[in-house]
Amino acid sequence: MNKNSAKIVATSTVREKAGVDSVQPEPSDSFISSPYVEQVTQRALAYLVAGYPVHFSGVAGTGKTTMAFHVASKLGRPVTLVHGDDEFGSSDLVGKDSGYRKNKVVDNYIHSVLKTEEEMKSLWVDNRLTTACERGEILIYDEFNRSRPEANNALLSVLSEGILNLPKLRRSGDGYMAVHPAFRAIFTSNPEEYAGVHKTQDALMDRLITIQLEHYDRDTEIMIVTKKSGLPPEDAERIVDIVRELRMFGVNNNRPTIRAGIAIGRILASQNRRARADDSFFQMICKDVLATDTAKITRGGQPVMMQKVEEVISKYCGSVKPVKDKVKEAIL
Ligand SMILES: Nc1ncnc2c1ncn2[C@@H]1O[C@H](COP(=O)(O)OP(=O)(O)O)[C@@H](O)[C@H]1O
Ligand SMILES: [Mg+2]
Repeated sequence: MNKNSAKIVATSTVREKAGVDSVQPEPSDSFISSPYVEQVTQRALAYLVAGYPVHFSGVAGTGKTTMAFHVASKLGRPVTLVHGDDEFGSSDLVGKDSGYRKNKVVDNYIHSVLKTEEEMKSLWVDNRLTTACERGEILIYDEFNRSRPEANNALLSVLSEGILNLPKLRRSGDGYMAVHPAFRAIFTSNPEEYAGVHKTQDALMDRLITIQLEHYDRDTEIMIVTKKSGLPPEDAERIVDIVRELRMFGVNNNRPTIRAGIAIGRILASQNRRARADDSFFQMICKDVLATDTAKITRGGQPVMMQKVEEVISKYCGSVKPVKDKVKEAIL
């Protein structure tokens, strides 16, 4: 056989560690701890310390992701984040056969001979769940119900028996892995996104302790908008009142969320403006940010939400003057 030719030496499965991609979360300067935030945190911690996985369920903007990180930070262990995704397969969660590795061996002793060996090894790349289970990290599985139910199968035995099943490694004797005792999992999901009946999702839900999150109370929302925008608290208060009233109105009771309030606040602050009814720029930002969802619903040819936004601005910020009156005022 030609010495320079490549040959297949072995076909076996080896485990390769994925890169370290866990984090140690710490609250940022803009994190707000209110009595409500603390109370939810205490409950979640109690369940986690007792060994139960926690699940924050709530519509968009109820602070699920923020709360998950906050609670995880209290456990003082590294955190691995996974996002639910429709494209997700279970191999994305636990690891997969990633193909082959080439291993070149150059024999330097006999310089006339160049010996090249190519090993073809089927690689098992440890993925996030595997790594988190092995190292005893905190897994945050954000919006887990966006993944197809079968993708989450591996979690069932992790959560009930403390065992991670790695089918591809069974031949090399590594098919089951005991989950590190410090491993904990925090899930989030938005109930609006549950479509149809997913058996696995139900089985998974059954193993979690679910904390229902509502929109923040008014005081917490004002504190968050003040902190995140840098506006004076009285401006944040007006914005929050406008947002909260619109949330109660119309087709979608869950929007606008706190994100809209933060956005209006940030835009105003960056323009050095205030939340005042006589500021036509403020009115326009409110309409752009707040009237998006319901633009199609009209009354007398005018989008209903536009009228409602004006009405609510007047209610909380003083009467809204039509722009043409202001032009007249300026001329007089
Ligand atoms: N305790 C808090 N302190 C400061 N900002 C917060 C807090 N909770 C939520 N927020 C902010 O509110 C917004 C919505 O929160 P998020 O956790 O993303 O909600 P969800 O995951 O439920 O959609 C984000 O901009 C987030 O930064
Ligand atoms: Mg979120």
